[in-house]
Amino acid sequence: MKALNILLISIFFILEITLAKTNNFNVKKNEIIQKNDDYYIVIVNNTLSTSMLKKRNEELFELEDDNIQFELLISNEINNLIMENKDTYKNITEFEEINNKTLTFEKRDDVEYVRDYGDSNLVYPLGSFKEKTILLAYLSSKLVKMVNSLSYVIDCDVDTKFEPAAYYNKNEILEETKWDNVIVRNDAKFHLSLISQGKFDPNLVSQYDTNFYYPSSAGKGIDIYILDISLNLKNQDEFPETNERIVENKFNIIRSQAVYGDYKPEYDDIIIRPAEKSHGATVAMAAGGITVGSANKANIRGIHLDDFAESNLFTALLNLMNDPLFKPNKSVFNMSFGGNNLIDYRTKPSVQLFQEIVNYLSNEGSIFVAAAGNDGIPVHKIEGGIEYFKLPCYLDNIICVGGVTSQYENNTTIEKEFTIDKGSNYGEGVDIYAPYHVKLAYEDVDGNRYEEEIYEGTSYATPLVSGVVATILSENPDEKFTTKSMLQHLRDMGEKNCIKDMEKDDPSNVFLNNGKRVVYSKDNIYNGCGIHAGNKGCPRNQCCSIDGKCSNKNSNVCITKN
Ligand SMILES: *[C@@H]1O[C@H](CO)[C@@H](O)[C@H](O)[C@H]1NC(C)=O
Ligand SMILES: *[C@@H]1O[C@H](CO)[C@@H](O)[C@H](O)[C@H]1NC(C)=O
Ligand SMILES: *[C@@H]1O[C@H](CO)[C@@H](O)[C@H](O)[C@H]1NC(C)=O
Ligand SMILES: *[C@@H]1O[C@H](CO)[C@@H](O)[C@H](O)[C@H]1NC(C)=O
Ligand SMILES: *[C@@H]1O[C@H](CO)[C@@H](O)[C@H](O)[C@H]1NC(C)=O
Ligand SMILES: *[C@@H]1O[C@H](CO)[C@@H](O)[C@H](O)[C@H]1NC(C)=O
Ligand SMILES: *[C@@H]1O[C@H](CO)[C@@H](O)[C@H](O)[C@H]1NC(C)=O
Repeated sequence: MKALNILLISIFFILEITLAKTNNFNVKKNEIIQKNDDYYIVIVNNTLSTSMLKKRNEELFELEDDNIQFELLISNEINNLIMENKDTYKNITEFEEINNKTLTFEKRDDVEYVRDYGDSNLVYPLGSFKEKTILLAYLSSKLVKMVNSLSYVIDCDVDTKFEPAAYYNKNEILEETKWDNVIVRNDAKFHLSLISQGKFDPNLVSQYDTNFYYPSSAGKGIDIYILDISLNLKNQDEFPETNERIVENKFNIIRSQAVYGDYKPEYDDIIIRPAEKSHGATVAMAAGGITVGSANKANIRGIHLDDFAESNLFTALLNLMNDPLFKPNKSVFNMSFGGNNLIDYRTKPSVQLFQEIVNYLSNEGSIFVAAAGNDGIPVHKIEGGIEYFKLPCYLDNIICVGGVTSQYENNTTIEKEFTIDKGSNYGEGVDIYAPYHVKLAYEDVDGNRYEEEIYEGTSYATPLVSGVVATILSENPDEKFTTKSMLQHLRDMGEKNCIKDMEKDDPSNVFLNNGKRVVYSKDNIYNGCGIHAGNKGCPRNQCCSIDGKCSNKNSNVCITKN
């Protein structure tokens, strides 16, 4: 049967090719401006041709199925046209790959095609409807013109790839978040998907949503000041050169004196442990990295410290306050004192002075964020009659961030509540919790590149909060915030009462959220209602209970306005 086809074809297409050539390949159908080699849908008028075909070939043999014979003929003809014009493809390697390719499934001997598609990978029929036959063809832009000018071709246009129907609802997100616009990053880093949805509950939602949803302003115009050691912001894939924002080393503070310019390894006067050779850079990434940061359009202004001495922090803040470019009401500080527990800090004049500066800047609109620390202890405790405080977290006007375990991508999400990581400090004085683990790649201060790995610590939870703060500022350019009002805003937006072993009415029982709290299911299957189940509703005679289940209107859970 195949052999017969070939014979038939060779007679047929000589005729049509000549016909096409005399047409001089003028584009007679839709003018197509197409730069690249691509797949096209070719629609062919089969009425004339089928009858022609029949007439010419009646004596050769009986056609079993007119349509299929015709479809294969046309395909073969276009295939020959393609082969003659191979050199018009932009990428001949890709062309050959497509032409030569045997899909793995085809190697199985139990594969049975529903119909005959012919022998070409470059063009084949999909089927016919009434007088139209539909083919798929891999064409160069020049071949598109040629095919379009064949007398029997009605249309030849690029095979449109539709977006898969989204399981999330953009308008619903904009309504909830009040963002000007939303960007959806598919299959984002786990630590980012965690902060743009409420707590995932497998009883309500079938599949964890791995997207990161964030406002398109993404911290644009906001300065995140990074005060840290090993702060090499150059050559990092997470900070590509762009004119959309500034990534710079504002000052380097060496022995408490400030110098301008990029970070240099010589500036790290103290011996830095290998594990810390990337501390500043990776922390900066969690705030503003292009794929791993929570505010990827914010300006990142590094203030490199040779160590975490209090004096260095004074130098940093005092120099900044005198800087004409410093905009207090557009600045977020991620602070560190090195995190020692100080006994009754309130009497120490330098700490009091530092607190005064923080209060002053906070009133001007700067937002301070600091890590709770990684000792696994309370940030405030009384032991043997002595009161201890974790600094700077416990100071006023500094948002103190603790960390919940976010390491087990396929595990954390299955538990109903988050767990405060055993490394994270906790307790009264911690204001909010954020992911303790982040995943990123970087170059260290010696120029060694490291593949993507999981890093842990409240040092990473903190910049994630700083980034979300930057997005709040960029979305609300006319609103005046202080650190206190910002904390209130973060708590209002955050996911409440979702942390294990914390009191339900504790205001710090709140997990960082960027404003988008509705939880979607990646496969669009829900077993509940309300915000934790894609905002699904309930039947008329039922209500949505606080735990996200539809219940009868006269049952207890429906009595309250829950
Ligand atoms: C197909 O060709 C026939 C015969 O030339 C013509 O009558 C008919 O209008 C064409 N159909 C289309 C959709 O171009
Ligand atoms: C051509 O296609 C091949 C295979 O798809 C690809 O690896 C190569 O980068 C392409 N070349 C150009 C110049 O785009
Ligand atoms: C495709 O097959 C031809 C002939 O068998 C061969 O010359 C060519 O190298 C192959 N191309 C690719 C990209 O596999
Ligand atoms: C943020 O503060 C924490 C400690 O409070 C520190 O470990 C981290 O390096 C700081 N990050 C930046 C980017 O300043
Ligand atoms: C699940 O979590 C436990 C700790 O809670 C951990 O030991 C285990 O490796 C995790 N499993 C996976 C598949 O992540
Ligand atoms: C989580 O599961 C997905 C697929 O189910 C897998 O690709 C991924 O590696 C898993 N992550 C971890 C940390 O185990
Ligand atoms: C921010 O500060 C600038 C001057 O520093 C001032 O002009 C502007 O009004 C302030 N914006 C808000 C919202 O307070």
